[in-house]
Amino acid sequence: MKKVLSGIAILAALCFAGSLVRAQDVASGEKTYKAKCAGCHGQEAEGKPAMKAPPIKGKSADEIQKQISTSPKHAAAKSLTPDDVKSLAAYLGTLK
Ligand code: HEC
Repeated sequence: MKKVLSGIAILAALCFAGSLVRAQDVASGEKTYKAKCAGCHGQEAEGKPAMKAPPIKGKSADEIQKQISTSPKHAAAKSLTPDDVKSLAAYLGTLK
């Protein structure tokens, strides 16, 4: 019985840590997004026809990485680290 209980405690702790990390990712992704992307892609990543920027809600880290390393529009984003890109993707994933 004791073993089962501590197993549950460990599982609960892991879940908690996991969601904490994700919340942190989302918060820092939002900061990066607002600072470096919102000007063209819109406050809610809804896209801005005037800037010819498409909506980028829900884009994956891979898609973002590819865009910022290949498209000339994203020269200013080249300095983003893989961690920045991951948290950007986490943030974009929360937008509907
Ligand atoms: C100077 C304006 C500008 C800024 C700033 C900008 N983008 Fe873009 N983005 C564009 C344009 C324009 C496109 C359309 C494709 C192209 O012209 O390269 C695009 C396309 C994309 C795409 C591909 C979308 C698709 O459906 O193919 C992604 C992903 C993307 N941007 C992510 C980002 C992220 C993340 C940032 C912030 C780090 C950012 N962009 C900042 C202008 C911008």
